[in-house]
Amino acid sequence: MADLEGNLDAKKYAPQTPLATFSHAVRGASNLDWGMQHRLSRIINPETGRTVMLAFDHGYFQGPTRGLERIDLNIAPLEAHADALMCTRGALRTSIPPATSAGLVLRASGGPSILKDLSDEHTAMAMNDAVRIGADAVAVQVFIGGEHESRSVQNLTTLVDAGYDAGIPVLGVTAVGKELTRDARYLGLATRIIAELGAQIVKTYYCDEGFEDVVAGCPVPVIMAGGKKLPELDALTMASRAVRAGAAGVDMGRNIFQSAQPAAMLTAVRAVVHDDADPQDAYEIFREAAS
Ligand code: R5P
Repeated sequence: MADLEGNLDAKKYAPQTPLATFSHAVRGASNLDWGMQHRLSRIINPETGRTVMLAFDHGYFQGPTRGLERIDLNIAPLEAHADALMCTRGALRTSIPPATSAGLVLRASGGPSILKDLSDEHTAMAMNDAVRIGADAVAVQVFIGGEHESRSVQNLTTLVDAGYDAGIPVLGVTAVGKELTRDARYLGLATRIIAELGAQIVKTYYCDEGFEDVVAGCPVPVIMAGGKKLPELDALTMASRAVRAGAAGVDMGRNIFQSAQPAAMLTAVRAVVHDDADPQDAYEIFREAAS
């Protein structure tokens, strides 16, 4: 307890100055509770309103993917360069240093492996474990139009309810099956449904035509998913187009950890996302950093 001796009377109430109000840089987040806004600020940089999230949760259905053979060796050295990490709790607990300052987005749905129907997911993590770990958000796959659409929507809404109890935001991921087209019409439908059902962030694929409409129609931040490995310049170009169309950043996996120079690629992606670097300039940043 503070020493009570010699206390000075409080005088500086500034009665003419209204109490400070804060508006939040994250789209749609101004009416959320303080803890949720705080966690969103740990994922999305409040200075730029954007994020570079490094996704390496692939093992939850694919096992050891190329580039993720040893997460402690391949990914842990990159964590300091990412705004946020997206991974499973198993990868985090075993292979990522607890002293990381990156935001943490933990995969919370799963079930089937690549040997089965991937859309047949359930929730795969309780919210109290996300709290225990110190997660800033949990991620759930939503299969709009898929065979198990309703269950995946229920996975989302169950986590959203638990997330409100704990103050932890939910990242809803639009899962695109082989039979579904990744066009603006579909992505606009899926992202909007996920946001309206309560996700505070949505992750979706980029589409060449109409991506700005997908973003505009979604009342929460849209983060671009990376997808299969592309040549570095192509991946940087796609990221640039997405953020210029309004995306709040990227959540990229294979295009970073399967690059011949993952740290250099992460640096170049940061330049595109946070500094609006031209893709060609960012590619030069990649080449320089790689050499
Ligand atoms: C998809 O929803 C999962 O989170 C993926 O594991 C992750 O998004 C894949 O990242 P990328 O497609 O950039 O390798």
